[in-house]
Order: sequence, then C-alpha cells, then structure tokens
Amino acid sequence: MRIVKVRLGRRGYDIRIGRELLGQVGAWLREKLPCDKAVIITNPIIDRLYGDILKRGLDKQGYKPLLLMVPEGEEQKSLDTAAKLYGGMQAARADRSTPVLALGGGVIGDLAGFVAATYMRGLPLVLLPTTLLAQVDSSIGGKTAVDHGPIKNNIGVFHQPALVVADILTLPSLPPIEVSNGLAEVIKYAVIRDKPFFSLIERNLDKIRSFDSIVLEEIIVRSAAIKAAIVEKDEKDAGLRNILNFGHTIGHAIESASDFRIKHGQAVSIGMVSAAVISNKMGIFKAKDLARLKKLLLAAGLPVAVPRLDMARVIKAMEHDKKVRNGRIRFILPRSIGKVFIADDVSFALAIEVLERNNEEG
Ligand SMILES: NC(=O)c1ccc[n+]([C@@H]2O[C@H](COP(=O)([O-])OP(=O)(O)OC[C@H]3O[C@@H](n4cnc5c(N)ncnc54)[C@H](O)[C@@H]3O)[C@@H](O)[C@H]2O)c1
Ligand SMILES: [Zn+2]
Repeated sequence: MRIVKVRLGRRGYDIRIGRELLGQVGAWLREKLPCDKAVIITNPIIDRLYGDILKRGLDKQGYKPLLLMVPEGEEQKSLDTAAKLYGGMQAARADRSTPVLALGGGVIGDLAGFVAATYMRGLPLVLLPTTLLAQVDSSIGGKTAVDHGPIKNNIGVFHQPALVVADILTLPSLPPIEVSNGLAEVIKYAVIRDKPFFSLIERNLDKIRSFDSIVLEEIIVRSAAIKAAIVEKDEKDAGLRNILNFGHTIGHAIESASDFRIKHGQAVSIGMVSAAVISNKMGIFKAKDLARLKKLLLAAGLPVAVPRLDMARVIKAMEHDKKVRNGRIRFILPRSIGKVFIADDVSFALAIEVLERNNEEG
C-alpha cells in the first residue's frame, strides 16, 4: 500500500492506494474514529461487487453498518435523493460521530459527501472510490455537490474526507469506457504538471488498460499526488486550482450541448486538444507536442475531434459558463507537455474557429 498525504492542517487526510484494502477499512476506522455505528452509501451494482468485502471487515471490528442504497445514475445526485438519505440516517439515529462511508464512483462520492457535510452540520466522511476517475480526481479535494435543474454540481459545499481508500482491485470490473473516462483526467495531470509522467503513461498504456496492478498503482499515486499538491495550495478554489480545469472550458460546453450524451472524460479529451490547438495557433505549443497529445488520447480510447453538435449551443454554453468579456475568454493553455498557463485574453473568435475546424491545426 502507498499513502499520498493531503496536508491541510486539521483537515488533512491520507489517501491509501493499493490492493485488497477494502477489507481493512473496518480496522482503520476503529483506529481513527471511535464510534459504534457506520453508514454505507452505495448503489446495487457496486454493492453486489464489493459490498461484502467491506462489510466483512466492518463486522470483524464490531460495527453493524447501516446500508443506504441509492439507485444507479447521475440523476441521483439530487436534493431529492439527499433528502431520502437524511431520512435513512435519522431512522438509524446517526449522530455527529457516525462516519459515512461512500462506496462507489464520483456520483456516490459527491452525493454521500454532500449528505455527510450537511447532516447535523457535518459527519466524518470516508471515501472508497471504485472508478478510476474517482480514485484520481473526485475523491480528492473536498468538493461535494448535487445537481439542480439543468445545472451540474449547482448545490454543494466543501467537506474534506477523514480518509480516502482507493482499492485498485475494484477497477477490473469497470467497462472500458469508464477506464478511458478516468484516463482523460490522468493525462490532464501529466500535461499540466509532469512531463516524465506523460512519458510513463505513453510507455505503459497497454498495461494500464489491462489492469496491470503495479502500473495502475503507480499512475494513481502520481495522479493523486499532483491533485493533492494543488489542493493543498488552494483548498477553496480561489486561484491555482484553476489549472485543473485544463480541457474543461470547451469540455463542459460539449458535455452540456450534447445533453450529457458525451461523457465527461471524452468531452475533456476534446477540450484538451482544442486548448492545445489554440495554444499552437498562438505560436506557443509545438506541433510535435500536439501530435503526441492526440496520439496518447486516441490510444487511451478517447476522442480528439469535435463531434457533430449544434455549434450555437456549444458557443452559448461557453459564453454562459465562462463569461466572455470584450470578445475574450479565459483558458488554461498548455505551454509544453508538463506546463500550462492561465490565458485571460484568448479571442473568443479563435476558440470558435478551432471548434468549427474540428480541432485541426494549421
Ligand atoms: N468532487 C469532485 O471534485 C469531482 C471531480 C470530478 C468529477 N466529479 C463528479 O463525479 C461524477 C462522475 O464520476 P464517475 O466517473 O466515477 O462516474 P459514476 O460514479 O457514475 O460511475 C460510473 C459507472 O460505473 C459504475 N461503477 C462504479 N464503480 C464500478 C466498478 N468498480 N465496477 C463496475 N462498475 C462500477 C457506476 O455504477 C456507474 O454506472 C460526476 O457526477 C462528476 O460531477 C466530482
Ligand atoms: Zn474533470
């Protein structure tokens, strides 16, 4: 097992990464959080796969965990579902010392995190991420949220977990598209912060995609360490954390203009290529690096070309999301592989041209 620390003073925590960790959560809970009850929030698919391993470990430590089941799907990240969970916790007489264990991907983590943050003004949260995206991204940094109306993550609060346990043996059951989805964020970390990491992903992509546990552990540790370091410097998203939005300006617009048919990681992949093309047209990002980035994304099973969408909707979503001022828009652009910068003055017309020309350079 490897440990990445998130150093946030009293709100700091460990991210434990490795194999066969779910069964040890009960013992770690006993060490860390004296309590007699625990609540598990999960969905039926994940419970069927990994619930028993977790529950056996909790039973051994004398916990009688209450299982609160949420149906599958992003639609469950809602105030309605949160209200049902509050009801379940009341019925079980959960109190301020009762830890909430979120077993699942980012949907379960964001929802259970929101409930843990708000029920009785905050219970300890233990995140047990079971998707690659959740292990490298959503479980780190304390953002919790539910969606509201058409707006994703509209209602939320910062609530750092007490512990994150990423058991890589949960990953082989993921559908390939979910692996690609997580890889988009992994590749994002390498482009914003770490060129040798980018080469490591290039060299080991086949092993990652076939769940080689040594390689997987390494890429999750390095990704988590990059996100943790950024979160430590900017816990509440006031500055540096912005660079994590590389690929997300256009990515979010594509997601929403496709009515979320295009998944987040796919949209971010397209958005990273768009940002790289914009930077290349501004004379900054080299054509050779652009080709390298596209090649790696394609090999990771991700799209690089802009899909056929109502371009007016994409543009509107970008205008709405990012507040275009005087025809200029803020972008996180790559300078080279491993370095990004915040560009406040990208011409909106250039961004649209890149999209309309389907991310082709030249
Ligand atoms: N809080 C943050 O900082 C943050 C960051 C990024 C994304 N998010 C949020 O995360 C969510 C997306 O998370 P996600 O990509 O993990 O998707 P997800 O939670 O929807 O999981 C994807 C699918 O995989 C299934 N699944 C989960 N683990 C599995 C396993 N081990 N084996 C087989 N199937 C499994 C799920 O039931 C689901 O169908 C979005 O709601 C997004 O807004 C939050
Ligand atoms: Zn993202």
